[in-house]
Amino acid sequence: MIENVPFTELISAERIAARVAELGAEISRDLAGIDELTVVCVLKGGFIFTADLVRHITIPCRIEFIRASSYGTHRASTGKVMLDHHHDPHVEGKNVLLVEDILDTGLTITRVLEELRGHNPASLHVCTLLDKPSARTTPVKADFTGFTIPDVYVVGYGLDAAGKHRELPYVASLNA
Ligand code: IMP
Ligand code: MG
Repeated sequence: MIENVPFTELISAERIAARVAELGAEISRDLAGIDELTVVCVLKGGFIFTADLVRHITIPCRIEFIRASSYGTHRASTGKVMLDHHHDPHVEGKNVLLVEDILDTGLTITRVLEELRGHNPASLHVCTLLDKPSARTTPVKADFTGFTIPDVYVVGYGLDAAGKHRELPYVASLNA
């Protein structure tokens, strides 16, 4: 009998590592000339990606964190995005790179971008590990994208399902 595993590997740890190194090089090349990059990690999902990515960026970085979450633990976006307003992301006059785990409907990143623009950064770029363009309801594009994936729910490498599976070293789709 075939063992009933809860998820199927979609992107291996090796492919992720290679692509993250490429992204770091792309960002360093495209944003060359900037004396300092303020990297804003969107918690919680972006924590592993951000940690790996900044080690491949050759521009000196400052790392900030912003907390964004949709209400509830449902897989589908609820349409309401909560932002942690108690934390100043220190982006005023800074060259900012926003780092997200995944662009799905686009709602979360749109809210975060609105919030950051309100703090008047000098420049604002978006880097996402994963993009599900077919799930988009709010038109938004990343400047740097790791992998484009189909509209399937994924976990691992920082991404969760109801708080679980963030620690997987690869990206996997959940089995029904
Ligand atoms: P959006 O607001 O629909 O673009 O969703 C973005 C947020 O929803 C991401 O930052 C994730 O936290 C979460 N999300 C969307 N799709 C997935 C997925 O496939 N796996 C895990 N989290 C997801
Ligand atoms: Mg998230």
